[in-house]
Amino acid sequence: MPVHVGIIMDGNGRWAAARGLPRALGHKAGAEAARRAIEAAAEAGIGWLTLFAFSSENWRRPADEVRDLTGLMRLYLRSEVKTLVKEGIRLRIIGERERFGPDLVRAIDAAEAMTAEGRRLNLNVALSYGGRAEIVAAARAAMRCAVEQGMAPESLDEAAFGRLLSTAGMPDPDLIIRTSGEQRLSNFLLWQSAYAEFVFQDVLWPDYEARHLAEAIGEFARRERRYGVRVA
Ligand code: IPE
Ligand code: IPE
Ligand code: MG
Repeated sequence: MPVHVGIIMDGNGRWAAARGLPRALGHKAGAEAARRAIEAAAEAGIGWLTLFAFSSENWRRPADEVRDLTGLMRLYLRSEVKTLVKEGIRLRIIGERERFGPDLVRAIDAAEAMTAEGRRLNLNVALSYGGRAEIVAAARAAMRCAVEQGMAPESLDEAAFGRLLSTAGMPDPDLIIRTSGEQRLSNFLLWQSAYAEFVFQDVLWPDYEARHLAEAIGEFARRERRYGVRVA
């Protein structure tokens, strides 16, 4: 069983296009799929789930699509908090939340505070998240420590660097799933996925069901993880 599963939820636009629908409806169906995946992960007893919902690079999409996506975030943050609390799910947002503006930042802060006691599932949603931006931010923080507090460069090791990332204190992902058939990381959890297993599934994200998650976990269970060490 993976401790931490990351999902690159891809294919909303293609799902909508295949039905002759506007992309916005693909994103709406994608949000429903995310809700199902969260439930399925909690049911399966996964401790950590990180959903990639909006990348640093997604800001470069047309303004109306960005508006549709931020609108959905606002809607779901408000409507889902109660369910998350009831289900024992702790929500954390990783990424540059400030870029969404004060309204959404307030909603995010409130949702995190309200769900802080959740122990059944740790849910991270990556919003305005990019692995490279995260690593640069951590490097800057380390440089500030050196300049302002005289920290010795040698005292920075992998564990200390990891504590400067947005995933500080969290386990690294064991399994990273990407839907829609694309086989790339697109700047997701670059540092943290050093030894993750990857499962690429041909399903478009709005069609994702509990059985797809079960299939990915089954595939993960068949993998032999070696971490560079020779076994037997
Ligand atoms: C994933 O679906 C959602 C986001 C990246 C915000 P896409 O919008 O990337 O859908 P495709 O890849 O165009 O089908
Ligand atoms: C990655 O999907 C980001 C999210 C799923 C949020 P994209 O659709 O943005 O990635 P590319 O452009 O295909 O690499
Ligand atoms: Mg895509």
